[in-house]
Amino acid sequence: MRHLIDIKDLSIQEIDELIKVANDIIAHPDKYSEKCHNKKLATLFFEPSTRTRLSFEAAMMELGGNVIGFSSASSSSTAKGESVSDTIRTVGCYSDIIAMRHPKEGAPLVASIKSTVPIINAGDGGHNHPTQTLTDLLTIYREKQRLDNLTIGLCGDLKFGRTVHSLVTAMSQYKNIKFVLISPEELKIPEYLKEGVLEKNNIEYIQTDSIEDSIAKLDILYMTRVQRERFFNEEDYLRLKDYYILDKEKLKNAKDDLCIMHPLPRVNEISTEVDDDPRAAYFRQVRYGKYIRMALILKLLEIE
Ligand code: CP
Repeated sequence: MRHLIDIKDLSIQEIDELIKVANDIIAHPDKYSEKCHNKKLATLFFEPSTRTRLSFEAAMMELGGNVIGFSSASSSSTAKGESVSDTIRTVGCYSDIIAMRHPKEGAPLVASIKSTVPIINAGDGGHNHPTQTLTDLLTIYREKQRLDNLTIGLCGDLKFGRTVHSLVTAMSQYKNIKFVLISPEELKIPEYLKEGVLEKNNIEYIQTDSIEDSIAKLDILYMTRVQRERFFNEEDYLRLKDYYILDKEKLKNAKDDLCIMHPLPRVNEISTEVDDDPRAAYFRQVRYGKYIRMALILKLLEIE
């Protein structure tokens, strides 16, 4: 039985295969509409979500399966003090696969040890978000027709932004990837990623706090929200929350084929005036999230 807890649980060949299946689902959705007949997905969200939970649920429905679950810890027996392990053992009696989001880093890993069905990490604290990364990789592939030879700007909260951590880990496996890490001093990428992923794999990167100085060389600009829920004090959040706001003016020097991404939700970091720019890929990115999750469900349930 396979789980997806960390993007490193998948080899580069498996990621490429998932992207291939997702592309086939986009081209031939009817072929897949009964693949999960009689299967049930449980979505256990101990933390808020719009895209991840609903795209998982839509994915299972489009595969012909059913969905059960809860969307907040307060509406489950967690509120009565039940442990993650007991919740998982219980839900495994009712479902074939579980997608789980939890505010505590490592909670999905703990769940996977006790689980009788595959567990998918749908985001754990400020740690990882592997299915967002699969979404991001499919988006990059469809927008740029490649996953190598790219200069990728990551901008905003690189410290707490779990989607950034998983994306850096995944993209570092492809050839000739360069990163421009754009953040204020307080929100720099964690040392464990700098040393353990970027430097270990000899990936070229620069750190800067200026979006204007670096935008012209980027193929991808990945904007992120400052993660209010991970801050220890509100004052720091208020000081940093509007540090970067991407607008038409800042895009003046960008490449014509720049791909602008954002895992969403957005707060202020991309002005809505950018939404109609053909380079703004973030709502296409949302759509791709459903297809890659369909491919992932099929893989973990070992359905051809
Ligand atoms: N990108 C993402 O994880 O969005 P949600 O928090 O809405 O699921």
